[in-house]
Parts: sequence; C-alpha cells; structure tokens
Amino acid sequence: MAGFDLNASFDVTNSPRHEAKLGNEWWRSGVIYQIYPRSFADGNGDGMGDLAGITSRLGSLAALGIDAVWLSPFYRSPQKDAGYDVSDYCDVDPLFGSLADFDAMLAEAHRLGLKVLIDLVPNHTSDQHKWFQAALAGQNRDFYHFKPGRGDAGELPPNNWLSLFGGPAWTRIQDENGEPGEWYLHLFDSSQPDLNWANPAVQSAFEEILRFWLDRGVDGFRVDQPHAMAKAEGLPDHPDVERAGAGFIEGEAAPPMWFQPEVHPIFRRWRAILESYPGDRAMCGEAYVLPLSLMALWVRPDEFNQTFNFRFLDSDWSAATLFANINESFEAFDAVGAPSTWVLNNHDVIRHASRFGGSYGRATASDGIGPKSPQPNAEAGLRKARGATMFMLGLPGASYIYQGEELGLPEHTTLADEFRQDPTFFRTSGERVGRDGCRVPLPWEAGAGDANGFNQTGEAWLPQPEIYRAYSRDQQDGVAGSTLELYKQALHLRRELRLGEGSFAWLPEFTRDEVLGYCNGEVLVIHNFGNAQVTLPAGEVLLSSLHGMQTGHNLAPDQTVWLKLRA
Ligand code: NOJ
Repeated sequence: MAGFDLNASFDVTNSPRHEAKLGNEWWRSGVIYQIYPRSFADGNGDGMGDLAGITSRLGSLAALGIDAVWLSPFYRSPQKDAGYDVSDYCDVDPLFGSLADFDAMLAEAHRLGLKVLIDLVPNHTSDQHKWFQAALAGQNRDFYHFKPGRGDAGELPPNNWLSLFGGPAWTRIQDENGEPGEWYLHLFDSSQPDLNWANPAVQSAFEEILRFWLDRGVDGFRVDQPHAMAKAEGLPDHPDVERAGAGFIEGEAAPPMWFQPEVHPIFRRWRAILESYPGDRAMCGEAYVLPLSLMALWVRPDEFNQTFNFRFLDSDWSAATLFANINESFEAFDAVGAPSTWVLNNHDVIRHASRFGGSYGRATASDGIGPKSPQPNAEAGLRKARGATMFMLGLPGASYIYQGEELGLPEHTTLADEFRQDPTFFRTSGERVGRDGCRVPLPWEAGAGDANGFNQTGEAWLPQPEIYRAYSRDQQDGVAGSTLELYKQALHLRRELRLGEGSFAWLPEFTRDEVLGYCNGEVLVIHNFGNAQVTLPAGEVLLSSLHGMQTGHNLAPDQTVWLKLRA
C-alpha cells in the first residue's frame, strides 16, 4: 500500500501492533551513534577531526549508553564531498590518520563494548580513483557510465538526468588529443563518477572491499545510496524530470536511476559474506525508497539488516503525520521480520533543534539555513527536539543518533559563504546553502581554545558559532536538566527496560491532534503537540523531556513523558 492515509485520523483499532522480540541480534534494537570524523574530535590540532581524536573520546560515548558507532567516510579522498568521494576504499586518508590509527580506534571501541559500523560508498568513486583515471586513459571504461553525447557534435548530454547537487548529471571529458570526447554520469558532484554495477568486475571488487574491512574486525557497514547503484539498461531519459527533478515521485514507476531490481542479488551476496564471519555483523542501507512497503523489500531476511527510516526522518512534527508514519513503519517492516529504525538527524539534514524551531520543509529535501534565511527559534526548537528524541527513543527497533544532538546543538545558521564546502552550495551558485551547518566541529570543553576543546589549537575546518560554547559537553555533564543528561537517562532507561526489544500499541485515549501516546510493555510514552496542558493517568514519571516534572503533574506543550502505570 502507498502509505497510511493522513486524513484517516487516528483509527487505533485498525493500526498495527508490534510484538516484543526479546533476546535477538543487537542491531534489531541497538542505538547507533553517528560519528562524523571531520568534526568529532581533532587529535593533531590541524582543524580536521581524526581517528586519534575519536579514540580519545570514545569513553564519553560509552558513558552515554549507546551500543554502536557508525563512522562517516575516513578513506583516502580528495574531500570534494566531505569524503563521500573515495579514491581508495582500503586506506585511511592522511587527514584522518592511518590504518594503524583505525585499528587502535576499533580495538578501543570493542574494549568499551561498542560495535563499529563504517560507511561504504558503492554508487560512485572519486574522479581521482585509479579506476576512473584508467577509464579516462581509455582502459576499462565499462567500470563507469561513459556515453557519447547527443546532438550533431555530441555536444548535448546523453540523457536528461540531473545531479542531486544541482545541474546536469553528465560531464564531458576531453580526449587525449584535446578534443571534446564522451560524457560520464555522476548523480552527485562531477568529481563523483557513478560506477557501472552491471559490470561483474565492479561487483567482485566491492566484495573484496567488504572482506578487507570485515577481516579487520568491523561489525558492519552503513551503505551509501544503494538505491542508485543499478541503472536501467541503455540509460533512458527520466520520464518526468520536470516534476521529479533528480528524484522520483512516490507511488509512480521508478525512474531509470532509482531502485532498479538488479540491486537485490548484489545485497544478497553481501549479506552472505557478512554472515560468513563470526559475530552479528550488520549492514544498514541508506535506501531512500518510498513508500515503506517498497523499502521493506530491501530488508528481507537475506538482504540489508536494516535501512534508514526516511519516512520518520521526513515527518513534520505533528500528531497526524507521526501517527500515519509510525503505522506505516510497523506494518512494512514487521511484514518482512525486519526492525524499523528511527532517526531524527544526520550529516545531511538541518539539526532537529533548529528544524523544529521554524519551517524548513522536509528534512531530506531542505536546502539548509543560511544567514539570509528566516532564523529558527532556538528555545522552541530545543524544547521540541528534546520531546521528539524521547518520543523516538521509546519506540521498539533500532535508533540512530547524530553526534552533537545529545548536546542539543543547533545548526550553524549564520556561517559565512567563505567557509562553505558543500558542493550543493557551489553547484547552485549559493542558492541552496547546503549541509555545512550541521557539520560544524563539536564543542567539548567551553573556552578550551577557539574551538571549545575540539582540539588544543583552536583550528577548525568550519568555525563554530559563538553560541556553541554554552552547549559544550563539560557545561552539561552531570548538570541536572541538561540535554546531555536527558539523553543519558533516556538511553540508560531504554536499555534497562529493554524498550528497543519491546512491543508497541497506540493508547486510544491519547491519540488525537493535540497528543500522541503509545505503550511499550509497561511504559507509556506520551507527547503533547497542542498548546494546552494534557492530564495524565496516574503513574510514576520515569523520565520527562522538561526538567523538574513530578509524578502527578500535567504534560506541558512540546513535552514527552515516559510513565509507568501504577500496579
Ligand atoms: C549520501 C550521503 O549521506 C551524503 O552526505 C553524500 O553527499 C551523498 N550520499 C553522496 O555520496
């Protein structure tokens, strides 16, 4: 079915319920924390985060109460798309350290009981990758999509596809004699040529890459853009580029570059490789496939272990939308025996503490917030974000947290153009400011250098806004009511009460426009979307998103409570 009807208003009787699944694999219920290596912690003081920095700070993540970390790319890369342009999949970029630093980081994570997922970027390489350099020189061009142009002199791109970062999805090369030559395909930046996954040599090269990292001991992969890997044969025009742009229209036939069925045998082979290793290795697909009944095909028992739930990430923060989207999630994923994941932030979207403080559209379609945009209301945004996180962490399934959200960090919304690095900014002549605002280095210790303890030198590849100082971890650690303490309490309770493995059913008396509530086992999770206080049932307050709530209090606007009913 094509999603739940947003107008069907809170039909609890016909909504899915979800049964508890105790004692299963960690990835079914774990909390995975995304580390963005460029901005987490900088060990050598050059302004760029690195693996040594991560290793030195892993203890604070273990204390937070997460189960696993996912590291965005740290591979050799010219960094045209912040590392999602890989020039060597089996080596660490000197910016981030060395393979030995990676091994040390992995060992420390494992010592602390944390699993480690790494980012695999199979849809495209960097244009500096030796495969692409060879292709430019005329060897093995079939590793990529090269085609002659259209028009009398081949001066027009081979088809009408657009890049997700703006502009056409094709770039023309020059032949060795300096004459204009063929065009190559790039769904992202021109420095990120798309691989040709119909070529068995590409497929086996990636199987070796998987093994390389599994042999080193990683617990699995987050897979970038898997829904783009296979392209329809012949690369026909996008039938509806005017309406869909670079994307697709949900509910209509998939255009030739998105979710083609040929990808599934590839993921089945990857899953078999993961399962040939000891321990619970897992892979999560960044599969932007909607509706979720289609995404469910990607998490059948022999494919991905899980996918990001973009429906949930894209939800506007309203009771009707969340009611529909959570129903759709349980229906789709339970049908194939996969966990739903829940996610509110990542390195591509406006941080939820800012997103919820204004109107910035669908999270994954947003253009970012720049100095000229309407500025978010920081207080309202954080209040809602704290409520949203607690609403999410009560849900059974796996949850993702993006570095800094545990500090309540807002987006950097006034970053000057001179610092911008996101290719989106450059490919749209600044019209879309892009994603740099959610990627700013983390503040650890207030006033420790210009970058608040991100390193010792104060250098930072993106400058922090002045306000980050007050959000520094040391200002929040152990401080009652801080966002950091809220996350810690929520994560520890979630683990203790086994909420990730728990059950789900809506509470009929708390599902309407102003309030949404569900129970997970004996725990009631209720969020107030309205402007008036909501009267709660008698029960023990386990945790509240607003500090100082006592048992017997009402629920204030934007507040979430975890409540245990009195026996
Ligand atoms: C998705 C990643 O999350 C994003 O950061 C990147 O730009 C694109 N894939 C291209 O790799």
